[in-house]
Amino acid sequence: MKNRDHYYWEAKRYGYRSRASFKLLQINERFYILKRGYNVLDLGASPGGWSQVALELVTPGGKVVAVDIKPIKIRGVIFIKKNVFDEDIIEKLKPHAPFNVVLSDMSPNISGVSSWDHARSIELAERAFQIASSVLLEGGHFVAKIFRGDMERDLIRKCKRRFELVKLHKPKASLPHSSEIYLICKRFKSLRIP
Ligand SMILES: C[S@@+](CC[C@H](N)C(=O)[O-])C[C@H]1O[C@@H](n2cnc3c(N)ncnc32)[C@H](O)[C@@H]1O
Repeated sequence: MKNRDHYYWEAKRYGYRSRASFKLLQINERFYILKRGYNVLDLGASPGGWSQVALELVTPGGKVVAVDIKPIKIRGVIFIKKNVFDEDIIEKLKPHAPFNVVLSDMSPNISGVSSWDHARSIELAERAFQIASSVLLEGGHFVAKIFRGDMERDLIRKCKRRFELVKLHKPKASLPHSSEIYLICKRFKSLRIP
């Protein structure tokens, strides 16, 4: 609870829309995902804490495109109101692609049944991975939240085929009792034959 209060107040102090901002800042401190000039896609962006951090780190020169079912308005962020499972999502993203980085902090509505929440979070991360595979530049990076469980292995295996480095990381700002963890995938390998 102390941890929660700390990041809650820190978010207020820095003008961030959610305490989740600190998770992305900590991931970035460790893995150097975001750089000035990068184009970033933020899936499941509402209320906007990650988009705010990404925008600060990539501008001037870069851009942030945010997608969510719930609308957000952040000056300088291009927002697309969409469900990631909509069939036309890639088509809607293509005018803004390619991206250097695809982020997904998407989360299902928590049921409290851990196996169910785990399975839904893997579905969302798999969908984010599919989208990332269509819009990432060669050498680009992908970060996705999952709730831990036995289905994570298969997703990690898929990611390892398409990225040079794949790691699981729990930033300090992630509540210790939560089973959430972040899949960090660096340097996307294009399937094109040179
Ligand atoms: C934990 S919140 C993201 C917090 C955000 N990263 C921030 O820093 O403020 C998870 C978000 O995922 C979104 N989401 C869940 N399923 C989705 C889907 N199928 N398509 C688009 N967004 C989705 C939810 O609407 C919710 O806003």
